[in-house]
Amino acid sequence: MKILGIETSCDETAAAVVEDGYRLLSNAVASSMDLHAAYGGVVPEIAARSHIEVIMPVISQALKDASATWDDIDGIAVTYGPGLGGSLLIGVMTARTLSITKNKPLYAINHITAHSYANFLTETSLPGYTLASRQPEFPLLALIVSGGHSQLILFRSNFDYSVLGRTRDDAIGEAFDKVAKIIGLPYPGGPSISKRAGSGDPHKYKLPKAHMDGAYDFSFSGLKTAVLRTAQTAVGKSYDFPSFEIAPLLTDTQQADLAASFQHTAVETVVEKTIAAYDEFKPKSVVIAGGVAANRELRSQMSERLPIPIEYTDMKLCTDNGAMIAAYGCYMAEFGHETADPYSLDIVPNLSM
Ligand code: KG4
Ligand code: ZN
Repeated sequence: MKILGIETSCDETAAAVVEDGYRLLSNAVASSMDLHAAYGGVVPEIAARSHIEVIMPVISQALKDASATWDDIDGIAVTYGPGLGGSLLIGVMTARTLSITKNKPLYAINHITAHSYANFLTETSLPGYTLASRQPEFPLLALIVSGGHSQLILFRSNFDYSVLGRTRDDAIGEAFDKVAKIIGLPYPGGPSISKRAGSGDPHKYKLPKAHMDGAYDFSFSGLKTAVLRTAQTAVGKSYDFPSFEIAPLLTDTQQADLAASFQHTAVETVVEKTIAAYDEFKPKSVVIAGGVAANRELRSQMSERLPIPIEYTDMKLCTDNGAMIAAYGCYMAEFGHETADPYSLDIVPNLSM
């Protein structure tokens, strides 16, 4: 069973072919990230326009790389939410049209649920991919950490899951991006903070960890504000000093120490919640997904503190991609999950789980 996955919820236009839920046959991605960098964040109109321009070439590339023709494809899986409305529309309208014209079943996929399924891919002949050596087992605890989401999900089986916790305000990746802006590091903030943190002292500045009522909920907005206040103080200014004027005043050491202290606190927060959830629910496997899963500090703290081994999938499958959508689509097809109506499937930008 071969499923074509289409993903356009944010700034990546992605398509991939996955066979039987574990074999990655292709993974084509075009990102408009460079176009957004000048603005310090994703500009929805630019993202949508760029999806229109590249979606068909990206799908053709995915089929070509998989050495597949439309005859080989058993179904089309597409992200219908959550995400940016204009961006989601391009993927969904394209998938609907292809479903009708190529006569393929259509599967509507929740982007956040699908993130975890990047970890179900264990085989590929594509060059340059390091995949997990075996599939995770249920019950499965998944930590989804990206620019748009921070969630802890407990999967009892493929379609039976509970959200244990989610962010009350900013997603963790968003916090990395905003803090980077304050301390003068380029967008996207995750990689640039992580790099800068390498030469900083993670214990130089004491930053607060949010304590939430919901045991597994996250909050990162307070941490971001604490970094701002700490930076204002570090450059000898008061709390009404504009955030965008701080960066030029920071010394290299202050910048590195702020990056390291922020990263350490943010990562420790999600690791502590994950370990607490592990202790309570005793899952057989734990996976991490989303762009922030690339973070080395996160991987090392998690491996160190988790009592069971954890595998990390390739970075190209942590950030937004079509393969995770196709993989989840494979399980929907395999287990006879309801298909979507290609004449009426609508986007749901604020879709929850
Ligand atoms: O999953 P993703 O590509 O897009 C969303 O669905 O949001 O995640 C992008 C986010 C950005 O906020 C970026 O700063 C963050 O992932 N990120 C990282 C790292 N690489 C990317 N955060 C921390 N450390 C990294 N190495
Ligand atoms: Zn995502």
